[in-house]
Amino acid sequence: MFKKLTLTAALALGLSAGGALAAGKAGEVTDYEFSFEGPFGTYDQAQLQRGLQVYTDVCAACHGLKFVPIRTLSDPQGPGMPEDQVRAYAEFFEVFDPAIDDFRVATPVDHFPESALETAPDLSLMAKARAGFSGPYGTGMNQLFRGMGGAEYIASLLTGYTGEEREEAGAILYENKAFPGGWISMAPPLWGDDVVYADGTEATLEQVSKDVSAFLMWTAEPKMMARKQAGLTGVIFLAVLSVLLYLTNKRLWASVKTSAKGQPAE
Ligand code: HEC
Repeated sequence: MFKKLTLTAALALGLSAGGALAAGKAGEVTDYEFSFEGPFGTYDQAQLQRGLQVYTDVCAACHGLKFVPIRTLSDPQGPGMPEDQVRAYAEFFEVFDPAIDDFRVATPVDHFPESALETAPDLSLMAKARAGFSGPYGTGMNQLFRGMGGAEYIASLLTGYTGEEREEAGAILYENKAFPGGWISMAPPLWGDDVVYADGTEATLEQVSKDVSAFLMWTAEPKMMARKQAGLTGVIFLAVLSVLLYLTNKRLWASVKTSAKGQPAE
């Protein structure tokens, strides 16, 4: 039985490693620093706002964020934009309204539009979807041991173009160090100085890439800060409870333990 199990496990491992190898080399992911790393990490509101700017000016031309309601941009644990700005922002977009069977200007209760380009995947959950892709053979080991997740992957993808191109079956592929397999059909979307930031941050390629990656981490996990806070409260609660239980235990057994050094009490 045990032999059979190990055999199956070995086979499964061998197969998956072989599959990854067949698909080409795993991507190189750089361990960028993000403010939301670690058990106490929080989103940097200014960074999320800058990331939204990059997303809107560059990525939204092809990609969508169909699971993200526009009103959440005013979330204090997210970009924290004032409500009137969110309303003005929503008016940039047009959405299809089945009630009037036509397109109309979006309002904050609408979601971001879907991808405009059919081949461009929706980015709402991309930062979570790709979290486990980093590490040898896409095992997600880097996430486990070094805390590297989807945000690092996306930032590495955006900065990972080598400048090489090739044509395959009529499509142009671009060489990218972070993309598993090494060739992606997305042309390099960022070059540095793609946007002018209102807060004066210099828009280098690394900066714009990190900002939009942080923003996409927030779209994928808007409740991360609340979750970490709840986790911390839970740990503190359990620590206090353990101390109380220990003291209670001592007290309950005190008479037994002191009465006759190991002899049961009368
Ligand atoms: C010109 C259209 C276009 C623009 C602009 C664009 N993308 Fe893409 N993107 C694509 C296409 C097409 C793919 C699918 C590529 C593939 O699978 O080969 C893609 C794929 C992706 C992926 C998924 C990669 C993976 O692991 O599968 C991410 C992440 C991404 N884009 C992020 C961005 C970000 C962030 C921006 C803005 C800075 C952006 N894209 C701008 C067309 C675009």
